[in-house]
Amino acid sequence: MALRNIVCEGDEILKKKCREVTDIDDRVRTILDDMIETMRDKEGVGIAAPQVGILRKMFVIEPEEGELLEFINPVIIEEKGSQESDEGCLSVPGLVGTMDRPEFIKVEAYDRTGEKVIHEATGFKAIVIRHELDHLEGILFIDNAKEVREASGEEEQEEEQNKKKSKNKS
Ligand code: CO
Repeated sequence: MALRNIVCEGDEILKKKCREVTDIDDRVRTILDDMIETMRDKEGVGIAAPQVGILRKMFVIEPEEGELLEFINPVIIEEKGSQESDEGCLSVPGLVGTMDRPEFIKVEAYDRTGEKVIHEATGFKAIVIRHELDHLEGILFIDNAKEVREASGEEEQEEEQNKKKSKNKS
């Protein structure tokens, strides 16, 4: 496993649409491993392939410690309801945005073994999944946020103390 550099806002890569993963092979599994290591190193709750410079449809999330999920070629089956979220992004350091996200999401995707998996999520996990799906379409939270502001000192401090639980930095 290896840490990868995170592509930051301003780089055109983040605005491009990702292509499908054609073969779920060792190369893909290595990229996923590196994405997991990079996400954990930055104490994020999710990371999408374009954030490490790879324009393929895949992302990993870890909305809670011990709940690591991988999505390859995800497709939205259903979205319902709405909830407001405060989001950050590893590719947009220092900013937080207020968003409207679905309360419930159902997504079909492949895992690293090539098995098809149906994911259903509500609450925070649904927010994280929706955030990562946007990355695959070349969309950042700052493109759709109702309000974008600088992360306050308090929020940064909160992040220091309780990173995974308090923030959706993905
Ligand atoms: Co992000």
